[in-house]
Amino acid sequence: MRGLRVGLLGLGVVGAGTWEVLTRNAEEIARRAGRRIEVAAIAVRDVAKARRLVGDGVLVTSDGMEVVRHPAIDVVVELIGGDTVARAWVMEAIRRGKHVVTANKALLAIHGNTIFSAAREHAVMVAFEAAVAGGIPIVKAIREGLAANHIQWVAGIINGTTNFVLSEMRARGLSFDDALAQAQQLGYAEANPTFDVEGVDAAHKLTLLASLAFGIPVQFDKVHIEGVSKLAQEDIAHAERLGYRIKLLGIARRRPDGFELRVHPTLIPADRLLANVEGAMNAVLVSGDMVGPTLYYGQGAGALPTASAVVADLVDVARLDSADPDHRVPYLAFQPDALDDTPVLPMAEIVSSYYLRLRVEDRPGVLADLSRILSAAGISIGSMFQTPHGDSDADIIFLSHDAREGAVDGAIDRIQALPFVKSGVTRLRVEHLL
Ligand code: NDP
Ligand code: HSE
Repeated sequence: MRGLRVGLLGLGVVGAGTWEVLTRNAEEIARRAGRRIEVAAIAVRDVAKARRLVGDGVLVTSDGMEVVRHPAIDVVVELIGGDTVARAWVMEAIRRGKHVVTANKALLAIHGNTIFSAAREHAVMVAFEAAVAGGIPIVKAIREGLAANHIQWVAGIINGTTNFVLSEMRARGLSFDDALAQAQQLGYAEANPTFDVEGVDAAHKLTLLASLAFGIPVQFDKVHIEGVSKLAQEDIAHAERLGYRIKLLGIARRRPDGFELRVHPTLIPADRLLANVEGAMNAVLVSGDMVGPTLYYGQGAGALPTASAVVADLVDVARLDSADPDHRVPYLAFQPDALDDTPVLPMAEIVSSYYLRLRVEDRPGVLADLSRILSAAGISIGSMFQTPHGDSDADIIFLSHDAREGAVDGAIDRIQALPFVKSGVTRLRVEHLL
């Protein structure tokens, strides 16, 4: 059988990794795929630089459309990023009946419904294992391995850059800026690193995980997003003292009245496996009603781990090329006419435990007033401690039991209006992952 001919859009961190994996493991990959997988054309901005890496046997151009429209190309691998040219080239590939493999979570989280619908119309695959948690085969695990389950929740460390930054800040006392600069040097960060530190990249991935887990349309605009850029060192230290670690978690949870979709810094008990995922590593916990909790761990970013997922998708394309399009694994795990339209819940309706920190005047009656407000809002205090600040102030830290976020918002407003309160209230959510 003739080889599968690949058009590669992008030869940066992941593109160069894909070239290397396909070159180094060519024989093993062909044994699995049943035929060779060959890069026939590449599009980049800097043609001379790409030529130095791949030599003379491959077409290298700065025009992505030339690659997409090239008659010899069977499958287009989009590793450019963003949702402008990448979107145009992916849509053109689909219209021309070419399969697409992409690592671009931003593109799919925003335009996924349109892209998958066009792909269905043109009977082509759009495979995206590399778009979520890099080298961890989490898409396949949820879409196929857990197909027997009613999935209850997914909670993941799905951004390597922020996990690296939080780990370095906690373990080595590095500043936020120094840790981020290292993550950028190591190739983990997005072209725009605010996507990493503000939680947007994790939200892109969570959007896709939620669709795979619950059979709902792609709904990036419904995800609540908070990043780590405003996280204070003192909260990392207080969390540790209370027996917790802070991680940027993406959480998708099924509730009777809707779905929770949220990304935010989260306190996790320090003895949980997820709390001990360090550096750029990613981990995703998925809980199904039949299987219980399952954990997937590995490198979520970087050239070769991400390329490992890209090439796994290419192997699927090579095998499925001749299969009946109506009987392929659905893009988002569920049959397109069986998607669930249950709403995503507003943030005020979510339920969580909370960590609250505030500075107050250290005088009689302060704790009583604070407790009264929390109690009136139906918020039960799990634990509390205070540390002195100067001669006349104190920092108070509360951990609550489960409460509705709307009730916590109201209590925070009332607390901040008290005359003895000298700071805003820092609020972090706590998850026990049970
Ligand atoms: P890079 O910035 O390293 O590479 C981007 C590549 O695209 C470069 O080769 C660049 O060309 C090329 N490119 C950009 N714009 C154009 C254009 N207009 N025309 C032609 N070529 C263009 O990105 P990454 O490899 O890091 O990321 C690629 C995708 O993979 C993104 O969607 C990212 O979110 C995703 N991803 C990245 C991971 C990582 O660890 N880095 C992990 C998982 C997913 P040139 O080289 O000439 O500049
Ligand atoms: N910037 C992303 C991260 C790359 O840090 O996880 C992998 O998607």
